[in-house]
Amino acid sequence: MTVQTTVQPQESLAGSVVIVTGAGSGIGRAAARAFARAGAHVLGVGRRPGALAETADGHAGIATLSADLRAPEAPRSIIDAATDRWGRLDVLVNNAGATAMMPLAETTAEGIDGLLSLNVTAPSLLARAALPHLLRSKGSIVNVSSTYGHRPLPGAAHYAASKAAVEQLTRSWALELAGGGVRVNAVAPGPTESQALSAAGLPDTAVEQIKRDEAARIPLGRRGEPDEVASWIVRLADPATTWLTGQVLAVDGGLHLT
Ligand SMILES: NC(=O)c1ccc[n+]([C@@H]2O[C@H](COP(=O)([O-])OP(=O)(O)OC[C@H]3O[C@@H](n4cnc5c(N)ncnc54)[C@H](OP(=O)(O)O)[C@@H]3O)[C@@H](O)[C@H]2O)c1
Repeated sequence: MTVQTTVQPQESLAGSVVIVTGAGSGIGRAAARAFARAGAHVLGVGRRPGALAETADGHAGIATLSADLRAPEAPRSIIDAATDRWGRLDVLVNNAGATAMMPLAETTAEGIDGLLSLNVTAPSLLARAALPHLLRSKGSIVNVSSTYGHRPLPGAAHYAASKAAVEQLTRSWALELAGGGVRVNAVAPGPTESQALSAAGLPDTAVEQIKRDEAARIPLGRRGEPDEVASWIVRLADPATTWLTGQVLAVDGGLHLT
């Protein structure tokens, strides 16, 4: 078998078609823009049309689709929106996710369902809908886990459990799809500037305290910027990354070492 291994990253993503979920803010916005800068056609998905429009502003390669990933029709309509427009799909970035504090004493069925439906079920069903196209393009999936996909998080066990599930989906799909030429990898970001903490419903003072505590625990001494995570999402997705699958890459300023 002859394998092309000499493609340059900037050339190989040009013209490819990428779906990024949660593209209206944070890591997803940075990833959508980074793929567009690399010459890809990007479909950015999220619920807020205004936030998505801001992501696409000034980036001709980004189209947007407002959709709730938990809606039953979402996987089909998202994949159709990309393939109807560009005729193919090369990369699925399962980035959208939510954080929720939920100590065991306050754990509810609704709380668990809410986290797992967005962090685990939605990316699974989107990947299923994307699969025929990814098999055709020999494309790839990049999932977004977290430091807490492989470390305990007291007070937010179900968030940690949902990201542990993402890491096992990544490894299992990597093996399952390797024969079809589809690579599956993940990034596991450490604490990164985004709307995640305020979206979890925490008051501003609590958010600031958590940010200070996190920065103090990170060996490189600060929280990450979305671009610092996005650049690795792009590298994992790049077809030039020909021989890497099933990896969960910690992008966390060294937090996983502590
Ligand atoms: N920031 C961190 O410190 C950190 C650390 C580790 C891992 N992560 C992971 O990184 C990923 C991105 O998070 P982020 O930090 O960039 O946070 P963020 O700014 O809150 O981004 C999450 C995005 O997901 C979208 N989203 C949420 N629910 C959705 C739904 N039901 N349907 C469609 N889109 C939905 C949100 O947009 P709408 O509200 O408009 O839908 C938002 O743009 C998440 O998986 C998160 O768990 C973040």
